[in-house]
Amino acid sequence: RIAYVNGRYVRHAEAAVHIEDRGYQFADGVYEVCEVRRGRLIDETLHVDRLERSLRELRIAMPMSRAALGAVLRETVRRNVVRDGMVYLQVTRGVAPRNHLFPAADTAPGIVVTAKSVSPASGDKRAEGGIAVISVPDNRWERVDIKTVGLLPNVMAKQAAKEAGAYEAWFIDKDGNVTEGSSTNAWIVTADGTLVTRPANGGILRGITRTVILDLAAKHGLKVEERAFSLDEAKRAREAFITAATTLVMPVVKIDDAAIGNGAPGSIATDLRARFHDHAE
Ligand code: PDD
Repeated sequence: RIAYVNGRYVRHAEAAVHIEDRGYQFADGVYEVCEVRRGRLIDETLHVDRLERSLRELRIAMPMSRAALGAVLRETVRRNVVRDGMVYLQVTRGVAPRNHLFPAADTAPGIVVTAKSVSPASGDKRAEGGIAVISVPDNRWERVDIKTVGLLPNVMAKQAAKEAGAYEAWFIDKDGNVTEGSSTNAWIVTADGTLVTRPANGGILRGITRTVILDLAAKHGLKVEERAFSLDEAKRAREAFITAATTLVMPVVKIDDAAIGNGAPGSIATDLRARFHDHAE
């Protein structure tokens, strides 16, 4: 495997960044995960748009032009011979002696890109039976709209899910409403077939998969409400599912101890999963 690190393509096993990279010391950086399908990056423009926004919010410079970045992403995919899989891209505020204050203005941002193959079938297998989620208190900071590498609450939540025999943890805010999963957005389907997901203007990351599904749902004439929903409402929902570049649309069949619908993947989630790549054909 090959990684791109600060201007060079190096062997993945030996790829390294400096110990004083601010990503390492302060989680002072942002990232993107983009799906690769049939050798092509899915929704590259939307991912680079969001990267630019995350960087702007944290006042970190874009490490290179969008065109150059696109070339690096594609070259990393090519060198790793990835047909179906993922690209990971991370940008940090760069290397400087440890100090909370921003480093000198001429400090170059740090950039790392990796790519790996993932069998599309492994996701399909999970989607057939659906996944279980647990609920955990949302103990994250308020700027979860920025895709930072500061993911400790997410790490703790995902591990708790695994230890409870579940795949994902849903964060619950102080009002008892679901915000999102540790690495996915959260959705439910009401009794009358309306899709519900939390608005992207508070408490969640604006997922690219979420945006695409909102579009797809509208095109297919499904009713959609962007509003907060409670854990209680979710447990009584007709269907539930999660979305992310890594999981695409993944049906949820259990939340804590409550079976969702009849305990099998719902028809709307299954249909949206099947149609997800229509926009990229
Ligand atoms: N996570 N919410 C959170 C907290 C996330 O970390 C992610 C993505 C999403 C979904 O966003 P998108 O649809 O753009 O992938 C929502 C990536 C996949 C990760 O951390 O691996």
